[in-house]
Amino acid sequence: MKQLFLNVLLGVTLMVSGQQKSQIYLDVTKPIEDRVENALSLMTTEEKVALCHAQSKFSSKGVARLGIPDVWSSDGSHGVSDEKLWSEWNSAQWTNDSCTAFPALTALAATFNPEIAFLFGKSIGEEARHREKAILLAPGVNIYRSPLDGRNFEYMGEDPYLASRMVVPYIHGVQSNGVAACVKHFALNNQEIWRGIINVNVSDRALHEIYLPAFKAAVQEGNVWSIMGAYNQYKGEFCCHNDLLLNKILKQDWKFDGVVVSDWGGTHSTDQAVNNGLDLEMGTYTNGLTTEGHFPFSSYYLADPFLKGLKDGKYDMAKLDDKARRILRLIFRTTMSANRPFGRFVSPEHSQAARKIAQEAIVLLKNEKNILPIAVGKYQKIAVIGENANRSMIVGGGSTSLKAAYEVSPLQGIQDKYGKDCVVYSMGYASGPSLYGREEPSKLNADSLLNAAVELAKTADVVFFVGGLNKNYFQDCEGGDRKSLSLPFGEDKLIESIQKVNKNVVVVLLSGNAVDMPWLSKIPAVVQAWYLGSEAGNAIVDIISGDVNPSGKLPFTFPKKLTDIGAHAFDKLCYPGDSVNVYYKEDILVGYRWLDTKKIEPLFPFGCGLSYTTFAYSKPSVDATELKSNGTVKISFTMTNTGKVDGHETAQLYVSKSKSIIARAAKELKAFKKTFLKAGESKIITIEVPVSSLAYFNEAKQAWEVESGIYSLLLGSSSRDIKGKVDVKINSLYISNN
Ligand code: BGC
Repeated sequence: MKQLFLNVLLGVTLMVSGQQKSQIYLDVTKPIEDRVENALSLMTTEEKVALCHAQSKFSSKGVARLGIPDVWSSDGSHGVSDEKLWSEWNSAQWTNDSCTAFPALTALAATFNPEIAFLFGKSIGEEARHREKAILLAPGVNIYRSPLDGRNFEYMGEDPYLASRMVVPYIHGVQSNGVAACVKHFALNNQEIWRGIINVNVSDRALHEIYLPAFKAAVQEGNVWSIMGAYNQYKGEFCCHNDLLLNKILKQDWKFDGVVVSDWGGTHSTDQAVNNGLDLEMGTYTNGLTTEGHFPFSSYYLADPFLKGLKDGKYDMAKLDDKARRILRLIFRTTMSANRPFGRFVSPEHSQAARKIAQEAIVLLKNEKNILPIAVGKYQKIAVIGENANRSMIVGGGSTSLKAAYEVSPLQGIQDKYGKDCVVYSMGYASGPSLYGREEPSKLNADSLLNAAVELAKTADVVFFVGGLNKNYFQDCEGGDRKSLSLPFGEDKLIESIQKVNKNVVVVLLSGNAVDMPWLSKIPAVVQAWYLGSEAGNAIVDIISGDVNPSGKLPFTFPKKLTDIGAHAFDKLCYPGDSVNVYYKEDILVGYRWLDTKKIEPLFPFGCGLSYTTFAYSKPSVDATELKSNGTVKISFTMTNTGKVDGHETAQLYVSKSKSIIARAAKELKAFKKTFLKAGESKIITIEVPVSSLAYFNEAKQAWEVESGIYSLLLGSSSRDIKGKVDVKINSLYISNN
């Protein structure tokens, strides 16, 4: 035993081809790079190739002969998936793998709270660690370009700065457990329709200013250990082996030293996989989430064909060594790290974390006549209407579908809080079964459901309508985009009918996407409650009862109509494309950038969210009105909670430049700060903006550049509620690409 310990600590010797080689790679006290080089020197070409492709649906080989463990990965961004069969998507039906379901990432983004993002990452990382995973296939940071994208719920909204600030602590949290985060899908995977083939045409400026910043922050600030390529193409090359994205931008410019993992089935060619930056090929010859191809793992592009090419001299051994090095580095950072904690699974702390994240995520969109909060005992009869009040929102949606240890539904939460005797329920509408590639209409009679709900609403003091989208195909679900901005399943008609018989209607929407609200003017309160995971019902009730003051802010715009969004303001080539190409004609004007610049009124703007209290902002001041090019400007102001309850407020700092040599968005988010204030309390808040963050991407120079001149710093409570403004003068500055 003692000898074994010494071997591990000091390294042992191994006979290789008659020579003795030291096994430094086992010595956890040695620098990782020494361990990597040592392990590499002990491996055969076959063993190195075996590192580079899957051996099962969610694992790839280590080096069994050397005691280097296999690499196991798991979805997903808001909970650790159940174990799958060896080479199929189906569940392995284990009985010990039901996880804590955390809120979806749109919800996390809505907290505007990087500390909450760390808590999220740390908690889910602990679950992944307990389940012996080396890689958690999360988080997703593709920019919300169109409200129709079926995967928006998995991502962090429409603003690159917000997504960047939230992704970094998430990664730190996950990786503090010795589990690699795998930021995805790199890059430009902004629609599900034709995702496996579509070639994205986007300007360099929009690429660098809008679509890449969150990935860049993940690499350079988050030090993420792995990244997943996207299914789509960019400049005619699939993103999983794309020379420009992977070799040039990611590995050369950003100095990424981790592993590029293909999306499942995203690899298409051995030559390109070898040469264009892919390291680990997963899921080849499967079609999305269901269809199995009988394609042996040894036939993967980076398996036998790679080995043959190496032996024939077609491929450079240095390419193989680079891939193997990266994978070994990941193994030494994770499963063979001395600093790896033990993790924990479905612990009370994780439930608390899930509830806290959910509480901070919920956005109060409308609250006329202070209908909310509703204290226990205020009303005798509460009607809960809507299928979403009582169906699982954890199951479905594609690869993020979870087997959760428990899920508190909104209905259960409301019953637990207000008392079962006070609460009556009616389904109101019904979605049909969801099968891959199609959504079937429900077999239940829509009119009977509606009539029963309206009858119930007549008798109630207050109605909670709990609707929205769900995780069915063509809703918030991987593999397909929504067909329209409208609520599905006749919900609009139902809401209209309910409000005719009851004026106290609170609409609670569960969705990861913006929806149209034709009934909005007739409804006193609207709550955006996302997909909140295991603690959904508890967190919703915490907010509607007033136990917790809402503080979430929208991470994307709710438009009045679809064509008010840049991606939908042009022809079909702009969205969804012609099945071969899609052209991002709105360029940098994504989300609120489009609506603000074009002076279009949103239904609800980016960054908005009400509270049960009110906040006053003083006039902002800056520490210097003229700035050196490499300086940082400090904006200070006093925020006061002018209402009667304690609460959080997120102050947002947008920057605008009216006279410019380039086309600009009317304003762009450059900083935010969430602060807790007791009722009546005031705090001086200082927000820092580095001048370098005001740079735009100069396409001619292929470099970041700060234009000189006057910039307006706009302090607001949302992108449309600007409380104060201060101008600063800045000298020009060139910044290199990295
Ligand atoms: C998804 C990825 C996921 C992978 C493994 C793919 O279909 O795009 O996000 O991690 O499957 O389930």
